[in-house]
Amino acid sequence: MAAALAFGTVSAAVGGVQTQGSSSADVSADVLPAATSALLKDYDREIVDQFDSANSVNHIRHLAVNIGPRLNGTPQEREGAEYIGGILKSYGFEVTYQQWGPVSTKQVAKVTSPNADLPGGPNWQMYASASGKFTGNTGVEGQVVYAKTGQSVADFPADTAGKVVLMDYNSTASIRNTAVANAVNHGAIAVILAYPTGNSAPPSFTLTASQPEIPVIGGGSAHYTWIRDLLDKGPLTLRIATNQYANPMGTNVIGIRHAVGDPTGTAAPIVMVGAHIDTVLGAPGAHDDASGNGVSLEVARVLSQYPLDKELRIGGFGGEEGGLLGARAYVNTLTAAEKARFVGEWQMDMVGTPYESARLWALTPNGQSNFVVQEAYNAAARVGFDGLRNCRLGQSDHQAFYDVGIPSSLFIWLDYRPPTPPAVCGPTGGTYVTEPQYHRPTDTMDNISPERLQITLDVVGGAVAHNALNAVTVSAASDAGQPLAGAPVRADCGNGPRDLGTTGADGRLQAVLPHATCDFTTTVEGRVATERNVSIAGDRAVKMTVDFTKPTISLTTPTDGAVFTLGTAATASYRCDDNLSGVATCAGTVPDGSPLDTSTVGFHEFTVKAADNAGNSADQKATYQVVYPWHASFPETMDGKAGSAVPIKFSLGGDHGTGVIASGYPVSRPVTCDTGKATGPAEPTSGPGNSKLGYEDGQYNYVWKTDRGWSDTCRQFELKLDDGSSHFTTVTLK
Ligand code: BES
Ligand code: ZN
Repeated sequence: MAAALAFGTVSAAVGGVQTQGSSSADVSADVLPAATSALLKDYDREIVDQFDSANSVNHIRHLAVNIGPRLNGTPQEREGAEYIGGILKSYGFEVTYQQWGPVSTKQVAKVTSPNADLPGGPNWQMYASASGKFTGNTGVEGQVVYAKTGQSVADFPADTAGKVVLMDYNSTASIRNTAVANAVNHGAIAVILAYPTGNSAPPSFTLTASQPEIPVIGGGSAHYTWIRDLLDKGPLTLRIATNQYANPMGTNVIGIRHAVGDPTGTAAPIVMVGAHIDTVLGAPGAHDDASGNGVSLEVARVLSQYPLDKELRIGGFGGEEGGLLGARAYVNTLTAAEKARFVGEWQMDMVGTPYESARLWALTPNGQSNFVVQEAYNAAARVGFDGLRNCRLGQSDHQAFYDVGIPSSLFIWLDYRPPTPPAVCGPTGGTYVTEPQYHRPTDTMDNISPERLQITLDVVGGAVAHNALNAVTVSAASDAGQPLAGAPVRADCGNGPRDLGTTGADGRLQAVLPHATCDFTTTVEGRVATERNVSIAGDRAVKMTVDFTKPTISLTTPTDGAVFTLGTAATASYRCDDNLSGVATCAGTVPDGSPLDTSTVGFHEFTVKAADNAGNSADQKATYQVVYPWHASFPETMDGKAGSAVPIKFSLGGDHGTGVIASGYPVSRPVTCDTGKATGPAEPTSGPGNSKLGYEDGQYNYVWKTDRGWSDTCRQFELKLDDGSSHFTTVTLK
């Protein structure tokens, strides 16, 4: 289960919330570099992690304890609606109260104590008989005495006069008539007839002879036991206020949070959650159904932090216990166009009793699964809860939505028993056993399980949140069009990088996102694909193409093998292209458009390196040569005398010193005089012959000492310079 309390501060930010001080860094930290271990979770997870059933418990306590029983048509039903409406307003919802009815007349007693902590809460409710007095809100107050069955004088304590008299409720009307008449005769200021045994709700009854001077009320068996226990401990004072609400109106509260792009609510899909406000007479209804509202309000709180493209509706319905009255009144207000906008209605009624044999059920009027049920199953799977089951039941407000064609389901923690196979839920349905507190004054905070509320929040709230956000399909493919499976997808929607999970075998990933502008990235085999500023408004598809193709380089200057004269001006010229992810860097030995280095002779390597935005890289090399401005002052063929010096004169555009000759040169080799073909190996010209290079008047002179033994031969002389160039002359020796 999501442990909402495991997270530290939660601060609002654009497009969502930022969780800080996260203590559970379980986000694939093992496969990610340390710097990214603070990745935000996907929105489903982020939202579920914020649901905190402690907040739901506080709402339930307000409804069931501070307000107490909320019988349809009474001021307490209205108070419940106003509490829910006030909370929803504080979350930015637009709130309306729908009054509907009139409904049947209600007769209720509000029972409080100025001196005792009443078990189950300070606001007890009993049945007010029309045979007694309706006191109005102030009521009467007095000490309580117990008068057994009230059938004989001996049953009444001596000090009964001026007291509130508790007596055993008897199913025989004549016994009740006698008991109340006797109490009046003893000077009782109020009479409580309560069930002495069993597990009964407050009884409703009339007396043959009315007692218009005092309130006469009926209590449940829990009331009886509680009063007797309090009396055993000492004096007990109760205040009893009886009212008859003649054909009152019922109340619904509807909170609407409009979609970002549809502020008047005409087009956006509607995601609705509902619960009922009202209770049966006498029951504080902590479980039935303050619990449903407690979950609705916590879902509303968390979702109100996100800009959404769906319209969110929270319904608090009155009169459910009277026959789904409020929900039916509400669906009757929906136009056909409005109904068509409904994604679904998730009804919560009794969503967390600690009753051991209860399980979480998604019940539909026809016993079939539907979209609302399926989405709850999906949400359950996301949080690892496998206890959700689907079967058939009406009996709550989901029926009203079902009846007008809106997909709905009742979510309930109930000991529900599906039909015995081969019978199936649709259409047969099963049976159920409720917890002992169901529809009883004992449906108090003790009948609330924070753990089960948390499961309901994660499953039902998780499904609602999932549907309130936009459905986004991210697909990853290579630039060759191949789907990429297992690609980790991240989105930054304004509050930092977020892990959306990895693509499936089809290269797709389903995610939900709020209304936001997001940057998407994925990394496959070191290649990063990025889609920036993707506007997420409504459901949509995001395509990520991972570029596996290197950038191209065209090198115009220098080309491979180019020759430049020393010191001449040349400009580097090249460009890089990548029409997939685009060029990230394009850098040569010198920048494009800058002078090429021609300041030193010899071979130079020029390299251009390019990288694209996906991380593909390429390089291209060119070797160019810088040479002296060569001028030969000797012909290609000469005559010489073996054993004498042959002067080889040339100029190099100035004095570059005497180190201009490549090492090991010059050389000479024997050649045939007619074809010039080499007939022997080249031999260095240096050595004992004292050949040497001089420089004078702008000209180099290499004095080549020839060998006497070379007479009547031809030799090719090769002068190779340190710029890599070679120059030749062939000498015919006499
Ligand atoms: N919370 C119950 C619904 C419920 C209770 C369903 C127990 C299944 C098992 C609801 O508030 C209720 O009591 N409904 C009425 C029906 C309604 C049409 C008056 C009921 O079940 O009797
Ligand atoms: Zn209910």
